[in-house]
Amino acid sequence: MAVTTTAFFLLLILTAAIATTSSAPILGLDTFLTHQSRLDRQATNDSFLSLSSTLRNSLSHSTPLSHTPHSLISSLLSLSLPLSLHVRLVGSSFPSSSASLLSFFLSASQSSNHFHVIAPYEIHSHRLAVQHSLHLDVSHSPSLASQLSKTLNSELEKTPSSLRSPLLSIPYDPIDQIIKQDFEKEKPVPGVYLYFLNLGPQSKPYAYNYGSGDSSAAFTKCLGSIWTGKDRYIWIDLGAGPVDYGPALSGDGVLPRGEFHPLAALHGRPKAQKALLADLASLVWSAYQVLLVPSLRIPVQFENSLIVQFIHVYGSEGSKDSSGLDWKSIERTFMDEAHDNGLLLGDQSLRFKTYRVSYSECPICSFAISRSINSYTSRFLFDNYTLIASEYLDSKRLHQILSDSAEEFRRVAGFPEEDFGRVLPVYVFDLDYSMLLLLDRYHQSVAFKDMVIAVRTKNTQTVSDYSCNGRHVFTQTRELERPLVGSILQSMWGVSPTHMLWSPRHNTTLVDYTWSVGQTPFGPFSEVSSLSFVQKDAARRNVLLTSLNYSITSAVDVLESIAAHGGERKLLKSSRHVEFVQRWNLFKYKLDKAVSALSHLDFEMALYYLRSSDHDLYAIHSLVYHASQEVEASLICFKDPPVPWTGIWLIALAFLFVFYLSKQQKLFRNKSKQF
Ligand SMILES: *[C@@H]1O[C@H](CO)[C@@H](O)[C@H](O)[C@H]1NC(C)=O
Ligand SMILES: *[C@@H]1O[C@H](CO)[C@@H](O)[C@H](O)[C@H]1NC(C)=O
Ligand SMILES: *[C@@H]1O[C@H](CO)[C@@H](O)[C@H](O)[C@H]1NC(C)=O
Ligand SMILES: *[C@@H]1O[C@H](CO)[C@@H](O)[C@H](O)[C@H]1NC(C)=O
Repeated sequence: MAVTTTAFFLLLILTAAIATTSSAPILGLDTFLTHQSRLDRQATNDSFLSLSSTLRNSLSHSTPLSHTPHSLISSLLSLSLPLSLHVRLVGSSFPSSSASLLSFFLSASQSSNHFHVIAPYEIHSHRLAVQHSLHLDVSHSPSLASQLSKTLNSELEKTPSSLRSPLLSIPYDPIDQIIKQDFEKEKPVPGVYLYFLNLGPQSKPYAYNYGSGDSSAAFTKCLGSIWTGKDRYIWIDLGAGPVDYGPALSGDGVLPRGEFHPLAALHGRPKAQKALLADLASLVWSAYQVLLVPSLRIPVQFENSLIVQFIHVYGSEGSKDSSGLDWKSIERTFMDEAHDNGLLLGDQSLRFKTYRVSYSECPICSFAISRSINSYTSRFLFDNYTLIASEYLDSKRLHQILSDSAEEFRRVAGFPEEDFGRVLPVYVFDLDYSMLLLLDRYHQSVAFKDMVIAVRTKNTQTVSDYSCNGRHVFTQTRELERPLVGSILQSMWGVSPTHMLWSPRHNTTLVDYTWSVGQTPFGPFSEVSSLSFVQKDAARRNVLLTSLNYSITSAVDVLESIAAHGGERKLLKSSRHVEFVQRWNLFKYKLDKAVSALSHLDFEMALYYLRSSDHDLYAIHSLVYHASQEVEASLICFKDPPVPWTGIWLIALAFLFVFYLSKQQKLFRNKSKQF
């Protein structure tokens, strides 16, 4: 008993000591680095070299008590990114205990939360080393309610009721304008605002439409009760609806009709306040997971130059129909955001190029199509049961053929090989074919990690397997712009579709369409192809998280190699040890700064610190490398002493130098070509 208590106290003191020493601020370092970040935005120079000797000294003194590789590794693997979500309760009927109840419910769902990747390349795991945590701030906003009520009432009076739908379809825009104004007053905010509107009972049931015009029989406009802004705010009108949208027959992610989905919290039988707040908490948690810390679709490396190549394989010159395939409008969707500091980081550039290939003059195209066509049969009930055979393209096979014959394609289409940066070919097969032909039966466009494939035929419309508010959703099969925007976002920036989320608990991708109406370029329920803050932030965050994860993995590697050599004291002798400690502390300091910048959504600063920390990481690698070479050399020398020392040393030095160069190249090559 006494022993365990003493051990416990020792542990306590030790952890306290580590905690205080490692977080002791180094006077002047912050100012120095901030200054550097202005002088050298790209972090091309190694900031360690221009550190004053006092700063270097304090770097070697601010060491944690224990420098054993294992404690350093665990400090790296426990980096966590706090993100703030400001919940605004708009309306008078939220109980005053809402804030504490919401926090209570949400603290229950917080455990260790890592960022995840839906489709890692072969060897990687789905889990990134960095964690995230939700910081909730709840406030009531009664003044906003009266203004919103007034607008809502006038919209409800203006809108004629429709025979086809029990829900009155009112435009989202007037409500959004008011909320947007309220949000602007809070700017600049390093977080996301979530508005819950509860404006009391209204004269008629209603929901929001996000397009123009009412829904006609052929065209289902999906009504919803939420909106995600271009700026970092979301609103949910709890009084609207209840709406339902999802797979029509069966499948994951359907919003159950009625009162069971938390979006319908206010509908159905009256609920106890606690039950209502539990529903709100579940909405907050879902919004946090899907909109604030979405899974990465794929890991994405930072590249200076991003190029999208549209390769239009057209059927015949005569039937040239560019509607539904307007490259300029796709390009504009991205360029507008890029000019608005929305998608790109640092000095990244984004370019779009278009190439045209005639299907009849492209043997490889017809080969690819004919090799990938498959058919399936389905049973339909007309007068009797009839079997109908339909055709589709197997996207995986098409991908395989296109990858294998990229050279041939380049020759036929006459486009140059791009030497630098990330090039994303977007193959669009625009076929002179009257039947419906989709990819893998359901998709107009499919994203791969290295290309996008899309297809359309002369067929214009099909019923999809989705329904919205009781009616089938139609797919306009010649309209490729929105599907292409979504696919390019996935392949180029690793942005996940709004309905996909990696779940470590299920060890699979979960599908949930809750957030797939309104402003999202993904999914069958929305018609909007503009990006909300969710996609814009994810695009930049994904690159930074991938790079941060790489730095952590690489640092863990070097620490493990130190451990394998018997610890840092044994491996690194005096002066090297001092430099190691200084470099390490500087490296860790910069990683912490990068994480804190990410958590404040200051992506540019995070990029600076990550790039700057690369110099320190590299220096640590080479320190350890040289030390381990010496250890190995001294072991060899021990065996046969009579040797001409100077000669050996010269050769060894030359060898080391060559090795060092190759290692240096390798390190940087690894970094840029990791995936
Ligand atoms: C990097 O260092 C060199 C030499 O020390 C200097 O000439 C150059 O201006 C520095 N670059 C930046 C971007 O600060
Ligand atoms: C991220 O880092 C973890 C831990 O170092 C590693 O297991 C994982 O494979 C890395 N993932 C990627 C995509 O780099
Ligand atoms: C099913 O109905 C179609 C016409 O709708 C008819 O042509 C066909 O012969 C029928 N098949 C059988 C097996 O009755
Ligand atoms: C997750 O599923 C994959 C295959 O689907 C399997 O190889 C892996 O072991 C599973 N992981 C866990 C943690 O269950």
